[in-house]
Amino acid sequence: MASTFASRIENLIHRVLTVERGVLLAVLSLALTANAPLAAAQKIELSVDVSKTGAKIDRNIFGQFAEHLGHGIYEGIWVGPDSPIPNTRGIRNDVVAALKAIKVPNVRWPGGCFADEYHWRDGIGAQRVVRLNPNWGGVIEPDTFGTHEFMDFIDQIGADAYVSVNVGSGTPHEAADWLEYMTAAQQTTLAKERAANGHPGPYKIARLGLGNESWDCGGNMTPDYYLSQMKIYSRFVRNYNPEQQKQQMLKIAVGPGGGESRWTDWTETIMQAYQHHTWSWDIDGLSMHSYTVVKWPPSYKSFDFGETEYAQILKSTLEMDDLIKKHSAIMDKYDPQKKVALIVDEWGGWYAPLPGSHPGFLLQQNSLRDAILAALNLNIFARNADRVRGANIAQMINVLQAMILTDKEKIVLTPTYYVFKMYVPFQDATLIPVTFDAGTYARDDIKLPRVDAIAAKDTTGKLWLEITNVDPNAPVEVAVSLTGINAKSAAGETLTGAKVDSINNFDAPNTVVPKPISAKAQSGKLTLKLDPKSVTVVSIEQ
Ligand code: AHR
Repeated sequence: MASTFASRIENLIHRVLTVERGVLLAVLSLALTANAPLAAAQKIELSVDVSKTGAKIDRNIFGQFAEHLGHGIYEGIWVGPDSPIPNTRGIRNDVVAALKAIKVPNVRWPGGCFADEYHWRDGIGAQRVVRLNPNWGGVIEPDTFGTHEFMDFIDQIGADAYVSVNVGSGTPHEAADWLEYMTAAQQTTLAKERAANGHPGPYKIARLGLGNESWDCGGNMTPDYYLSQMKIYSRFVRNYNPEQQKQQMLKIAVGPGGGESRWTDWTETIMQAYQHHTWSWDIDGLSMHSYTVVKWPPSYKSFDFGETEYAQILKSTLEMDDLIKKHSAIMDKYDPQKKVALIVDEWGGWYAPLPGSHPGFLLQQNSLRDAILAALNLNIFARNADRVRGANIAQMINVLQAMILTDKEKIVLTPTYYVFKMYVPFQDATLIPVTFDAGTYARDDIKLPRVDAIAAKDTTGKLWLEITNVDPNAPVEVAVSLTGINAKSAAGETLTGAKVDSINNFDAPNTVVPKPISAKAQSGKLTLKLDPKSVTVVSIEQ
């Protein structure tokens, strides 16, 4: 007993000393930080040779994904015509205005895992079928938002439809009927039903997903089993829209979800079959899903984290490049002409659900780290533009790495939203190779390229440059030399924040917003001074 008492006292003294030492260290470090000058700017030379051109950056790499999951659809897009929240035919006006500004090329819908349990007839006509959503919290799915509401929504924002059909629990017959319902111009029974439901003309379906993650939530199929199913859907699920007979709908097969052998086998199986495909089936794209997670189940915080988590997440996100290269190399073996596009139709940071939120709703915050993560991935897609001709960030509103967060009538545009806005000039632009020595940013044992950059000529011939400064501690001074044009100045926007985990929320929606930046050329060089942890897009004036 006496010895226990003594050790308790010893313990207490130790804890008091530790706390005091901690307080002392914190005060010292505060004092040091307050007086510390900003780290010296790192100097980088970057060359752009405008006479050399690369592939076209397909605007569809800026695609969005909207699944019936949490508040992605209901409350995020759909509030219903009787809502006090301003809306057009039930669709939020504030959300539409924000999405129009980022020129969303296409929206993937209705899932995700949800797509392989979706029955389209539940979501048309006056009597909607109320079901459960077993994948995402087992909540009520009212099916109020169905085909017509989705088409109205994408029409309001000016995007194309990327519809995923149900291969997991549906039938080819059901999917074929859905496509006929949406696209037939002639007076078939299904086209008449569509007209009776308010849309006499056929809809345009730009992209068609033949299932979703069929190796997992889409039915846990083997590659061979999926292949035999996919051929049937590819053959019978037809688009009848007369305007799409020339500019046809892209059929996208389920592809890999990682780099391990089960995924490389999957890509091999589909692409080998594609090489010898007959007239009766075809595909135009192979999907790939890759989230930045680090640990499963997702446990990294989406807010209130430190520099180590910042570096870990960005290190992990850069693996996207190797993954694309790995699967592109397999595709090249069977499709050297690159007819089949790689479509990264689910990507983004996936973190722990926000405390107090429904864990099945995948609600997370969106920080400056996500803005940088988005820029790094968009640059990877752009550099692989000869094969990557589509990508869909997961997901558009209130789910995972969202563009927009809503809470009843309130709306917040996230740092990721602003990156997509700044990148609009890169939509359909032609890649121009850039050369630079990126340098290194190190945190603990993690090493990352300090800087990333892409350049491209837009459809009007204007040159654009994007530079990401990954280093959260040091500004960077980039001296840009341009061959092939006489650059006079550069102007555009830069996005940064006070901390790597700075966020926009309903109380402070403008914490991370783009600010103007410009530079004048001197002796033929443009020098851009970029803040630590920033994303910058400028156009070059001649
Ligand atoms: O985006 C959330 C889920 O992630 C999708 O429903 C599924 O396809 C993937 O596993």
